Amino acid sequence: MIQELINTAVAAREKAYAPYSGFRVGAALLTEGGKVYNGCNVENASYGLTCCAERAAVFKAVSEGDTKFKAIAVISDTEDFCTPCGACRQVLAEFGGDINVIMCNNRKEFLEQKVSQLLPGYFTLTPAAGNTTLKG
Ligand code: THU
Repeated sequence: MIQELINTAVAAREKAYAPYSGFRVGAALLTEGGKVYNGCNVENASYGLTCCAERAAVFKAVSEGDTKFKAIAVISDTEDFCTPCGACRQVLAEFGGDINVIMCNNRKEFLEQKVSQLLPGYFTLTPAAGNTTLKG
């Protein structure tokens, strides 16, 4: 399944709209029901409006009524593992710290970590008991 997810992310990377940075990213988001949503980064001449591949995938899924996710694979064409930016970590955390993030390099090797590991203490309106230690 992980290899399938990575292959979907690779295909999504082909769709990247990245004329400004040239940094092409693909993502593939696996729902609990077994559906896969892909996403690519979409840049804009007003740079700050750029949307990352991970968020594109999440927004597509949520728009289709899917909000329960198992894993997301992310790939660029770098030698290093492609890790999600802070904004994408927070957006993923909205749907659960347990989501597995599969961070790939250009050889399709990967590192796997949970969202809660990538963004400890992520923001929530109803902090879990474990988060209260961050208050003081
Ligand atoms: N980018 C992503 O798509 N995902 C990330 O997690 C980090 C960065 C995109 C945004 C921009 O189009 C390009 O990579 C360079 O930052």
